[in-house]
Formats: sequence, C-alpha cells, structure tokens
Amino acid sequence: MAETRDVRPGEVAIDLPAGFDAGVHFIGRIRTPFKTRGDCPRNTAQSDAVGRVEVEARYWAGLKDLELYSHAILLYWMDQARRDLIQQVPAHLTHPRGTFALRSPVRPNPIALAVVEIIGIEGGTLTVRHVDCIDGTPLLDIKPYFASTDSVPDARRP
Ligand SMILES: C[S@@+](CC[C@H](N)C(=O)[O-])C[C@H]1O[C@@H](n2cnc3c(N)ncnc32)[C@H](O)[C@@H]1O
Repeated sequence: MAETRDVRPGEVAIDLPAGFDAGVHFIGRIRTPFKTRGDCPRNTAQSDAVGRVEVEARYWAGLKDLELYSHAILLYWMDQARRDLIQQVPAHLTHPRGTFALRSPVRPNPIALAVVEIIGIEGGTLTVRHVDCIDGTPLLDIKPYFASTDSVPDARRP
C-alpha cells in the first residue's frame, strides 16, 4: 500500500506498477463547454451539452459509415485524474467503494466512456450531444452504439 498521499478517510491508495503493459494513440480531442472538472456534469445522463469530437486527419477514413448510426460510444482518457486510488469516497457517498464499482475518472487506467447522440459529421469532426468531460480531453476510440447489445434496461445498480 502507498503512503497516505492526499486520501480522504476510508480511501485507499496503491503503488502502481513502474512500467506500462501497452501504449495507446490519442486519435483526437473532445471539445466541450467545460474548462475545469468542477464545470463538468457528473455524467452523460445529466448532460445535454453539445460538443465536438475532433479526429486527427490520419484516422478520418475510419469514420466512413458512422453517419448510419444515431449514437456512438466514445472512449476517452481522463488526463487530469490521479490513478492510484483503489477505494474511493465519491462526493455523493459517505463510505468507500471499490474503484471498479465506480464510474469515477480516478482509476489505474483513466478510461471513460460516453454514449453520445451524433448530431452531425463533417470531415473529421463529429458534433455530439451528452458530453461530460473537460474541453480538450484526449479521445481513444469511437464505436457505434447498438441498443440491441449495449443496453440492459433492467440491469441492477445501487
Ligand atoms: C464521473 S466521470 C464519468 C465519465 C464517463 N461518462 C464514464 O462514465 O466513464 C465524469 C467526471 O469526470 C471529471 N472529468 C472530466 N474530464 C476529465 C479529465 N479530462 N480528466 C479528469 N477528470 C475529468 C469531471 O469531474 C466529470 O464530472
């Protein structure tokens, strides 16, 4: 276990491995109205905000046919999040919960996901609704959203 560096009561920090097991390429940036974490909505469900997904030119060919879908899954890199908390006490809870039982950006690999509505695609820029991240957040991937396989309306949650 790591020393107590900026942990709230009940939170647990760990030492992360010295190296990495894989590398990623940021394929673009997500442009949003939110300049700081505090400006952001808590999640996409609480956000009707419109943003732009700016994909780097080398990847534009990969956007072919994405306009056939009404919604997409964005995977993005929470570049301002710490990575060492394995139990956390989020602001809306009073007790610690395991990082893998939370949607917090703070996690060993700070990967976030959002199901966004595609409003339009022009060149390498998607205009989308329901963004929840800071302006300039790095983009890892885009996938089409399939309600048939990605939605579990009666899934249990606390
Ligand atoms: C609770 S997370 C949910 C993210 C994503 N929708 C998910 O479920 O994986 C959203 C919060 O992450 C924080 N956040 C947004 N952009 C960030 C960034 N680039 N780095 C670190 N934290 C960020 C903001 O506080 C925002 O309210």
